[in-house]
Amino acid sequence: MKLFFSILRITGLTALAVVLIDLTLDVGDQSPYQAYPVLWLILAVIVFIAIAIEVSVASLRSLLYRSLTPEAKESYDAFMAAKEEKRSNWLKKTYRKLIDRKPVEKEDEIVLDHNYDGIRELDNNLPPWWLYGFYASIIFAFVYLARYHIFNGTTQIEEFNQEMAEAKAAVEEYKKNADDLIDMNTVERLTGEADLKAGQSIFETKCFACHKMDGGGGIGPNLTDDYWINGGGIKNVFHTISEGGRAGKGMVAWKTELTPKERAQVASYVLSLHGTEPASPKEPQGELWVDPDAPKQEQPDKQTDSIKANTGIKAIQTIE
Ligand code: HEC
Repeated sequence: MKLFFSILRITGLTALAVVLIDLTLDVGDQSPYQAYPVLWLILAVIVFIAIAIEVSVASLRSLLYRSLTPEAKESYDAFMAAKEEKRSNWLKKTYRKLIDRKPVEKEDEIVLDHNYDGIRELDNNLPPWWLYGFYASIIFAFVYLARYHIFNGTTQIEEFNQEMAEAKAAVEEYKKNADDLIDMNTVERLTGEADLKAGQSIFETKCFACHKMDGGGGIGPNLTDDYWINGGGIKNVFHTISEGGRAGKGMVAWKTELTPKERAQVASYVLSLHGTEPASPKEPQGELWVDPDAPKQEQPDKQTDSIKANTGIKAIQTIE
């Protein structure tokens, strides 16, 4: 029993230390023990000290006990026995109260005067532990009813939906800032000067050989005109740059060489070349591209191919 309480005290103290550490140290998503490995050492020291105290108190006590005179030992033993007795009496009494069972000698008081072929029935009280649990559940039911059906508290389904919505928003937020998650569906035309500059420097190192410095076209098509082989607009251009042009035409997929962010930058730069006048423009190739989102008056004159162009983004195989 003594050992049990010793262990209880040591674990209690350790748990208290752990809770205090968790409450006082705020280290974001990490666990405090990852952030400060020295905490393990501190915990170990706390446990060690607790054990040391328990051991020394116990040995001090047995030392004192041994130094007592025989009479004193006797009265001490009697005192401890009385204490122990009191404790176990209290436990027994509480247990009996909760069960409320008539002792066998007193069963006569509660036997029902009915005799089923010699089998008789005792009219025991309901065990109080059960009865109070039952009352508690009735009270709980009323509280529950009022909370959720009268005052319209948030139900579990609503809570679930709310949490899902929050999580979804968090994912969207994360995606917005995570450059490397940009794909054809989420890419947006970048207009910031830094992004366009970055796009330009990529274009002028990796793309100019086939498209010319000014995008006028050479081996590859003119990127400044309104005609696109693989579709115009940021999404299609991003897709072409990522996955390459038509097979065997010389435009390779850049997705292994350029990060998604870089592809978005160079795609935005390519689009910014639209309408400029290259020195020796290549003749238009592909179809007239009309941005489905553009305001009406900005659309180029559509005499040819207008029907095809109006159907919007060309069908492209989905990426990945
Ligand atoms: C080896 C030559 C070569 C290089 C280098 C090259 N391209 Fe191309 N590019 C082509 C060819 C050829 C096409 C036409 C593909 C087709 O017909 O499908 C093309 C097509 C394109 C298109 C689509 C044009 C349209 O009309 O649909 C874009 C956009 C493009 N390239 C951008 C780039 C960018 C950005 C780079 C640099 C990262 C680059 N290209 C590097 C040869 C090249």
